Amino acid sequence: MPSPTFEQPEQIRELFDRIAPHYDFFNQTLSLGLHQVWKRMAVRWSGASSGDHVLDLCCGTGDLALQLARRVGRRGRVVGLDFSPAMLNIARHRSRQLFPNHPIEWVLGDALTLPFPNDSFDAVTMGYGLRNVSDIPQALREIRRVLKPGCRAAILDFHRPTGIPFLEHFQRWYLNTQVVAQAKALGLGSEYAYIDPSLDRFPSGEEQRQMALQAGFASAKFYPLAWGMMGVLVIEACHCDRQCSAS
Ligand SMILES: C[S@@+](CC[C@H](N)C(=O)[O-])C[C@H]1O[C@@H](n2cnc3c(N)ncnc32)[C@H](O)[C@@H]1O
Repeated sequence: MPSPTFEQPEQIRELFDRIAPHYDFFNQTLSLGLHQVWKRMAVRWSGASSGDHVLDLCCGTGDLALQLARRVGRRGRVVGLDFSPAMLNIARHRSRQLFPNHPIEWVLGDALTLPFPNDSFDAVTMGYGLRNVSDIPQALREIRRVLKPGCRAAILDFHRPTGIPFLEHFQRWYLNTQVVAQAKALGLGSEYAYIDPSLDRFPSGEEQRQMALQAGFASAKFYPLAWGMMGVLVIEACHCDRQCSAS
């Protein structure tokens, strides 16, 4: 779940192309498998249900899209979008193995200029993507644009457990020693060294909430997970159309 300091989307894309072959192993080991639990919560909070048409942004190797496929079933439709071809190739391969009869659409594209019409989706998820996009307000506006009225998005990412010094120290220690050490062993030390500093620049839960309201969402709630070391931003589009004064 690394995040670069680079501002250039091209550099971000190259970073994820490089780490793609190791990405799933790393997530699983470093979170002790817990990332799947947090992802399940994000999927549930997105409000996706049977038969829905849903989008997973910055889908990477496809964890959230695969969970969404289980949730929406054969009558539903799942789209996973990412701008890293290497990450998408792994996602495509996994979905062919796990859901041979329920093809997920894998789209190579940019979360900042989504190639979908307005009001396309019943739910949107994004896991560890918001911290990586180069323009967070624009990503939120695009999510708002493609969500149908009254529908929700759930955005999972790291968070600082501020106000709990022990946990903040633990998180910094874990990221700067354990994660970086394991990454170095795979030749990816510098790629993963960025996670901890990236959290200092990433907006807090309350700041994310305010940004979502500014992007036109009618409501925004932030749910801390893992004692505040992770969090899910749940945002809901107004029931009226996009021009409504409530949004
Ligand atoms: C840390 S990974 C998360 C992958 C997956 N969602 C997960 O939770 O395991 C971040 C992903 O965001 C993608 N990404 C970053 N900026 C993007 C953008 N502007 N448009 C599309 N994908 C982007 C990267 O290619 C990478 O696959």
